[in-house]
Amino acid sequence: MPFAHITGWGMYVPEPVLTNNDIAKLIDTNDEWIRDHTGIRERHIARETEFPSTLAVEASLRALQVANLAPTELDLIICSTSSPEYIFPATACLIQDQIGATKAGAFDLLAACSGFIFATNMAAQAIRSGSIKNALVIGSETLSRFVDWKDRNTCILFGDGAGAFVLQASDKPGGVLSAVMHSDGSGSDSLTLLGGGSRHPATEQTLHEGKHFVQMDGKAVFRFATRVMGRAVQEALEPLGLTTNDVQWIIPHQANYRIIETAAKYLKMPLDKFVINVQNYGNTSTASIPIATVEAVEKGQLKSGDKTVFVGFGAGLTWGAMVVEWTGPIPATKHIHPKQYRLFARLRSIARRAIRYIEGFLSRKEL
Ligand SMILES: CC(C)(COP(=O)(O)OP(=O)(O)OC[C@H]1O[C@@H](n2cnc3c(N)ncnc32)[C@H](O)[C@@H]1OP(=O)(O)O)[C@@H](O)C(=O)NCCC(=O)NCCS
Repeated sequence: MPFAHITGWGMYVPEPVLTNNDIAKLIDTNDEWIRDHTGIRERHIARETEFPSTLAVEASLRALQVANLAPTELDLIICSTSSPEYIFPATACLIQDQIGATKAGAFDLLAACSGFIFATNMAAQAIRSGSIKNALVIGSETLSRFVDWKDRNTCILFGDGAGAFVLQASDKPGGVLSAVMHSDGSGSDSLTLLGGGSRHPATEQTLHEGKHFVQMDGKAVFRFATRVMGRAVQEALEPLGLTTNDVQWIIPHQANYRIIETAAKYLKMPLDKFVINVQNYGNTSTASIPIATVEAVEKGQLKSGDKTVFVGFGAGLTWGAMVVEWTGPIPATKHIHPKQYRLFARLRSIARRAIRYIEGFLSRKEL
């Protein structure tokens, strides 16, 4: 049975930064309160011209560059997002088209902030089963579009960004070692975005009622997160016969510094074993784990052979953890430049649209 190794990683955040002081100009809050209650100092906010696919394409091309893999070699693309560009088509298909992943099947996965763990697990299982060889998993969010900038309960928390992993099959042991995924829909009303779906399609009334904004019972989410995080880490380690002493890094979902602190206490682990960057990005939802991972690699913290646990929680309610033996890129025999495929992808997309148009025109004539 092949192993599923993480051989590429990339992140992208939009340039504009919104500090706590900037938010304090919009609503009744202040930098000190936000830092004390969440650990967040600033977050990045997508420009009007940037969407989940825009951020995801940048992160994906960086991940493919690290993996030294051409987009045309990908078999599968999973985009985890709670702020998809549309209900359909899937954001993953837009990414597939823009990077020129000609043979990849692509779909979105919605498990809120736990989504990146769920998606990576799905891709790893497809590799482990032998049905595919190369997968791209992306977490991409522009939740700033769904935040009520008058609601101080939520608008201080979220930021935009994307992170991506390339997973590849190899006979060498390592990579994704285990994962647990959990859900509890009885807590579905703790964190919601109700408008625009088929129960509350967009109407003047849904807009008036603010149903197109994120709504959250902050305290309930806080209690849930602190209860499940530590336990999920232990659950993922147990089948491997490992304990937290065997783990070099915990990379948690970056929602709130105090939640991470509580998880560290529960696990009796020092906080310096946790990768934390919530101060710079806020909660980027499903993108937060890959963004934190990329930074940990780039800072030289996360090294080849390190046992790492990813752990996340979010709306649904959902939560999960994954144990990974960090691999690093497979040594290259030739050098690939995935960005060069972008031009090819654009031309291919235009050509296919033109063919579709001509086909449509000719078939109208035939009818
Ligand atoms: C949202 C959160 C930061 C609020 O912190 P909290 O300690 O629960 O704050 P509370 O809602 O109890 O409010 C405490 C006080 O601060 C005030 N307050 C709330 N938000 C504020 C803000 N942004 N700025 C200033 N004051 C604020 C409240 O009005 C309240 O004042 P009062 O005591 O006079 O009534 C916290 O509940 C949280 O982080 N929850 C988890 C959210 C999360 O991670 N969601 C994403 C999951 S993926």
